[in-house]
Amino acid sequence: MPATLIDGKAFAARVRSQVADHVTRLKSEHGITPGLAVVLVGEDPASQVYVRSKGKQTVEVGMKSVEHKLDVDTSEADLLAVIDQLNNDPEIHGILVQLPLPEHLDEDLVINSIAPEKDVDGFHISNVGLLGTGQKSMVPCTPLGCLMMLRDHHGSILGMDAVVVGRSNIVGKPMAQLLLGDSCTVTIAHSRTKDLPDVVRRADIVVAAVGRPEMIPGDWIKPGATVIDVGINRLDAPERGEGKTRLVGDVQFESCAEVAGAITPVPGGVGPMTIACLLANTVTACCRANGLAEPEGLTA
Ligand code: GUN
Repeated sequence: MPATLIDGKAFAARVRSQVADHVTRLKSEHGITPGLAVVLVGEDPASQVYVRSKGKQTVEVGMKSVEHKLDVDTSEADLLAVIDQLNNDPEIHGILVQLPLPEHLDEDLVINSIAPEKDVDGFHISNVGLLGTGQKSMVPCTPLGCLMMLRDHHGSILGMDAVVVGRSNIVGKPMAQLLLGDSCTVTIAHSRTKDLPDVVRRADIVVAAVGRPEMIPGDWIKPGATVIDVGINRLDAPERGEGKTRLVGDVQFESCAEVAGAITPVPGGVGPMTIACLLANTVTACCRANGLAEPEGLTA
């Protein structure tokens, strides 16, 4: 495997340690403890795992963690009331409403009811607009993690050809904005892109965020390119025993690693960076709320 492995697990541990240092300073020098509130509606098992992990890591870096677990049939009015209370709580600097929401709730309405300066997911329409116009915003966690890894690996990515495969609001679109912000030449490709293999082959940087298991083979990759695999797909793996599964990304790891210059594995690549960046965003939000200098290297 000639490609360098970009170790997201180790990188995320470094980010968490920087966040923890900053939290220590906020407490000792200013008497402020950053607080993150997570709201979970319903009992989706994957969401429960995520929320538990977020709460644990929030406490580990020294921040205050608040969880609101609401019944699956919570009304929109009751959910909005919880968000309103958190918006007005001075001890809470970040609010995250776990997605997906049950079908009877309007996701856009709910997300846009979060105070934009506490929207540590960066999903509020104000933050989307600020990012799109190159202004200071809260940046979605997964693309922020990808950007941090790219900057760390390359130093500068200025002038590089970047292809983002996937056009979601959560990853693809904000990722493209961030790459543009760092002066890459950016293409957003997707399932309907004409000659997708040729488009991907032009890229110095490929960010795969389509949600299709192992869709991108090694012969689509330009030799030496950097491949960032955002996909987390669970496949059946009967060879490991009955009912067993394995995680794969959106790229074919083995064949891509033969050609790429650097690649993120799944698991252990982008995944761990998402929560680390959520913690980083919470510290950033806390600093902004208190008129203090933002932590360096933890924002876009
Ligand atoms: N569900 C899966 N990933 C995420 C995320 O990054 N943020 C929120 N709010 N919900 C999610």
